[in-house]
Amino acid sequence: MDLYSRIEEFQPEQVSFFADDSAGYRSVIVVHSTRLGPAVGGTRVWHYDSETEAATDALRLARGMTYKNAAANLPLGGGKAVVFARPDVDRRELFLAHGRAVDRFAGRFVTAEDVGTTPADMEIMRTVTSNVAGLASGSGDPSPFTARGVFRSMLAACQWTWDSSDLDGKIVAIQGCGSVGSWLARAVSASGAHVIVADLDQDRAATVAAETGADLVSAEEILSVPADVLSPCALGGILNDQTVDQISAKIVVGAANNQLAESRHAEVLAKRGILYAPDFIANAGGVLRGTVDLLGWSHEKAEQHIEAIFDTTLNVFEIAASDGISTHEAANRLAERRLAIAS
Ligand code: NAI
Repeated sequence: MDLYSRIEEFQPEQVSFFADDSAGYRSVIVVHSTRLGPAVGGTRVWHYDSETEAATDALRLARGMTYKNAAANLPLGGGKAVVFARPDVDRRELFLAHGRAVDRFAGRFVTAEDVGTTPADMEIMRTVTSNVAGLASGSGDPSPFTARGVFRSMLAACQWTWDSSDLDGKIVAIQGCGSVGSWLARAVSASGAHVIVADLDQDRAATVAAETGADLVSAEEILSVPADVLSPCALGGILNDQTVDQISAKIVVGAANNQLAESRHAEVLAKRGILYAPDFIANAGGVLRGTVDLLGWSHEKAEQHIEAIFDTTLNVFEIAASDGISTHEAANRLAERRLAIAS
């Protein structure tokens, strides 16, 4: 598919390409929607083979941010920046160039960290634009807050499935013991559930297992291990043709973005009697925490909204049940309703 067809498919407000060869800088910035507020989305530094590939990634991720922010009831739109990763670039020059590009949106686009970027990169950008969040001096690492939101979504899924949000005695399998997975393992373990963890990085998984009393299994086993809840906290695309039939858990709820390889996998899970809590509902804790920087919210207000991920998750399940659609489709519908009201 060519670039213009992609733009037609995703319907962004704006797609901008930037180049500053003296800094080794090339990027695509997508403002998908500002209907609810300034477009917010991370900056990803990644290897792309072409402009079309980079722009497609930015378009998909930017639309995802529009839906995540709308479903979380935030006065924020969705956007994304992708920067071509190149060897031997001066990181400071790269992020100064990127900061200047972001600044040209005059507040219609605000960025933060994503894959391949750090709070230190944001600090560099901050010297040339105020439209950057996720600074070490601001709301800080979002991971514990993302984990808290996933935990709240997990409790809601238990409530819906078993009429009780009590995790005591349940078995929860967590795939990925990184920033979010490790926080989640601690919370789930403290709630009385039995935790099983896996990570491609065996040392990381072993550390979390030792700290939380979790059992350790291999990365190959974690999806099929007997459990009540499966929590994907590693990479996207994990719910696919190869994996959906292996899952033994009754609930899937995790932090990973874009867990479904395709939308139809949500229907496959539903047919198998597995309740899927949509990723962009469950993992909104990080962006909700970002409101402290982005919107000047108090810490208490941000935390109240993170706790409310419990209610948002239940709301999605109710829409799915009443409209006879998958939970993924229901989450999209919830976001689209909020966008429609604002237009
Ligand atoms: P991270 O990079 O700290 O941790 C990911 C972990 O998954 C790593 O330890 C990695 O070794 C492991 N992993 C990768 N593939 C695996 C596999 N096949 N099996 C088992 N383990 C595997 O990332 P982080 O920050 O914990 O994020 C986890 C997911 O949540 C990512 O998909 C991220 O995009 C998403 N997310 C994170 C947010 C945050 O606040 N950090 C916010 C919203 C979404």
